[in-house]
Amino acid sequence: MKNLVFNNFYKQGLFMEDRRKYSSVSNTELHLLNQIGRDFSSSLDFESIIDMIMSRVKDVIKCEASSVILFDETRDSLVFYAASGAGAKEVEGLTIPRGKGFAGWVFDNQEAVIVDEVNKDPRFYSGIDDITHMKTGSLICVPVGNKDKKLGVIEGINKIDGSFTGRDLDLLIAISQLAGISIENSMIHRNLEQKNNDLDRLNKEMDDFVNIVSHDLQTPLASIEGYVGLIKDEITSMLESNADLNNYLNRIEQNCKNMFNFISHLRSLVRLNKDSLSFQEFDPAAVLDEICALLEDLIREKNADVIYNSSLHVIRYDRTLFYHILYNLVQNSLKYSAKCRKPVIKIETEEEENEIHFLIMDNGAGISKDDQEKIFSFYTRGKNAKMADGYGLGLAFVKKIVELFDGKVWVETEPDKGSIFYFSLPR
Ligand SMILES: Nc1ncnc2c1ncn2[C@@H]1O[C@H](COP(=O)(O)OP(=O)(O)OP(=O)(O)O)[C@@H](O)[C@H]1O
Ligand SMILES: [Mg+2]
Repeated sequence: MKNLVFNNFYKQGLFMEDRRKYSSVSNTELHLLNQIGRDFSSSLDFESIIDMIMSRVKDVIKCEASSVILFDETRDSLVFYAASGAGAKEVEGLTIPRGKGFAGWVFDNQEAVIVDEVNKDPRFYSGIDDITHMKTGSLICVPVGNKDKKLGVIEGINKIDGSFTGRDLDLLIAISQLAGISIENSMIHRNLEQKNNDLDRLNKEMDDFVNIVSHDLQTPLASIEGYVGLIKDEITSMLESNADLNNYLNRIEQNCKNMFNFISHLRSLVRLNKDSLSFQEFDPAAVLDEICALLEDLIREKNADVIYNSSLHVIRYDRTLFYHILYNLVQNSLKYSAKCRKPVIKIETEEEENEIHFLIMDNGAGISKDDQEKIFSFYTRGKNAKMADGYGLGLAFVKKIVELFDGKVWVETEPDKGSIFYFSLPR
């Protein structure tokens, strides 16, 4: 029985010129390998690359069947990604338990192998023959990888005339080196495509979510606004003599308007991009006045002090979006205030030559270390979230807007002490 292990001979990343020194590969075959290399690099599509490898292996080393078996980390197994020859269809998708068979051995040891009579070798795993009803006689198997990354193995089964030779091994190693680069590139491409699809799905979910939420908010709001109008019409004379009542009804109307405004901003936030920005000059203190008016009930309920300079340096950004950043941060400071002390929220700015920093400081519940990383992601809430209702969206929107302005947002916080949310924007 010939059973060759090409341990020293096989070297990942061997250059073609080096290989020439001790290889039995002819010039014609080198030419063919060049062609194969060009074919492999012509596509980024995973399936086409694997198909190309399959057909090239069978043609070049002249065997009955060939397969590309790749390591699947999630299943911790080798998986037949493609096979050609008898029983190919049955084989695709089958897994070989880790360390089993020649494929498992070659993968674990990173050594190429040629075997003339597999059933006389203890490494032989008959499980696949049982499924394909094909009898494996001779076998050639080489590892496939890219740089230090082990990707899997390529296998040829049953040499058509005679036995597999050192030349077959040289060719298969050369093919596996070319294949490794292409397989890894196509896997990266496939993962990127997968991520893009996930992102599209997430965007769609966000659209649906905002549409549902804004619809569900708008309907009762329209009704409240309508009834306030009717009440005012009914009691016009009473309102003339009762300034407080007039004031209350006006405040309800104003809050309805603010909410409508907010909902319409929310819709546009979902599809935010740089083209939709509209820059204007404004005083951030005026924005804070509007936010405090909208959050008036919450401020009163919490008995909170919201402290900021009544006039700040005029800045130039998209005012509506800037409003959303501050609104979410101030609202959070109120929502997640500590029960045992009076909430004090301070908003300050620090100006530098190229940047302006905004600080929203509270003496609230603070945020645990684990949560600090996550809270800027969509639909993510912290452990303290049971203190208040919410969707886990506010900070994700804040981050999105700040980044749209080419700025940064971060938090310094300590549980039970309080938090400082910072965002800096270029001037
Ligand atoms: N100032 C703060 N103090 C303590 N925890 C905070 C503060 N701001 C945010 N958090 C934590 O971060 C989480 C995410 O905040 P985010 O504003 O994104 O969502 P939310 O407030 O839960 O819901 P909403 O979508 O209504 O804003 C909150 O659930 C809370 O756990
Ligand atoms: Mg929030």
